[in-house]
Amino acid sequence: MLEKAKCLLHPSVRSGIPPFMVMDVMAAAARLEAQGRRIVHMEVGQPAAGAPSTAIAAVRAALADGPQGYTATLGIPSLRRRIAKAYADWHQIDLDPERVVVTTGSSAAFMLAFLAAFEPGDRIAVAVPGYPPYRHILSALGCEPVLIETDAATRWCMTGNMLIDRHRARPIKGVIVGSPANPTGTMMEADALSELIQTAEDAGIAVISDEIYHGLDYAFAARSAARISPGVIVANSFSKYFCMTGWRIGWMAVPSALLRAVECLQQNLAISVPTLSQIAAEAAFDGRAELEDIKHGYEENRRILLDGLPRAGLDSFLPVDGAFYLYADISRFSSDSFQFATRMLEEAGVAATPGIDFDPIRGRKFLRLCYAGSRDDMREAVARIGTWLKG
Ligand SMILES: Cc1ncc(COP(=O)(O)O)c(C=O)c1O
Repeated sequence: MLEKAKCLLHPSVRSGIPPFMVMDVMAAAARLEAQGRRIVHMEVGQPAAGAPSTAIAAVRAALADGPQGYTATLGIPSLRRRIAKAYADWHQIDLDPERVVVTTGSSAAFMLAFLAAFEPGDRIAVAVPGYPPYRHILSALGCEPVLIETDAATRWCMTGNMLIDRHRARPIKGVIVGSPANPTGTMMEADALSELIQTAEDAGIAVISDEIYHGLDYAFAARSAARISPGVIVANSFSKYFCMTGWRIGWMAVPSALLRAVECLQQNLAISVPTLSQIAAEAAFDGRAELEDIKHGYEENRRILLDGLPRAGLDSFLPVDGAFYLYADISRFSSDSFQFATRMLEEAGVAATPGIDFDPIRGRKFLRLCYAGSRDDMREAVARIGTWLKG
């Protein structure tokens, strides 16, 4: 019986997506820590701080208040209204709260958006280097990710021309844009974002804008795609600016035409988003003062790295505009970023993510460093990298 069951259980072809390599780096760092080594963590893209105290207090009160049942599938109405209000406050947009869908992190927003908007076989453009799960979720859903290589000439951002060239060669159904971006930390200027969105929409290509790093912009203010077109699907999250990664909560602004499809999908896939996380998220909007302090800490970290890394020997990186990433060119030292990251971890005790996670080809020459940790960690990382590279 057991043998028969074993034969039946083969992973499906579509589940055969690559791992997220940063998790392997984390595991290697944990092994060294278990041996008593001190490791500076710059591999995982998450804030060192926790949720704002307003969120914690709201959850405590809710727990004392009674059972936490399911909520409406699209989210607690007052949270949807609060999210819509943030668009008025931050982006001067009048967003209808009916178009706001609360999701289990932006990760679930992508799944819902891709299922609602695309068919198996559809070709979806993604910039490379880029966040690997875009490609991997699309593949698992039977869509074809179309990788568009970017470079310094366009601030490492996709342009309307790049998209249209590929669309003419073979039709493209959708495009994912992200600004500030992971892993590069670069941002699109408002004009560049408008140009890409308008070009895509004129060609009948649906746009999904990943705005998870909004709020963490240092070089200039990030523009929401929702301000450019009501036809864009906007995904966002409480994970980064709001420091709530583990609460697994995010949201989407969905064009009216897709709203019912998204609702039916979420009804069936999740029923609703965890109630306590929704309560925490609504109260997190009242924790802006704490969150702005944390953001200023990232700005300070960014300054420490921009000053210190060139002196340490890492002197070539992409524009460090937003999010909390620095994407460094390591080709002076190695053409194998995985090996470089492994040695830097073992010999210098600094964990970072090899670029091949984000760009299967050119990523061999890049390393992503996350500066969401403490100021002391940043100073220590600069000192350790300097000693190691010179040693
Ligand atoms: C660019 C980008 N989008 C989306 C996500 C997913 O985040 P979450 O599901 O926590 O909202 C991440 C996580 O690191 C990310 O870097």
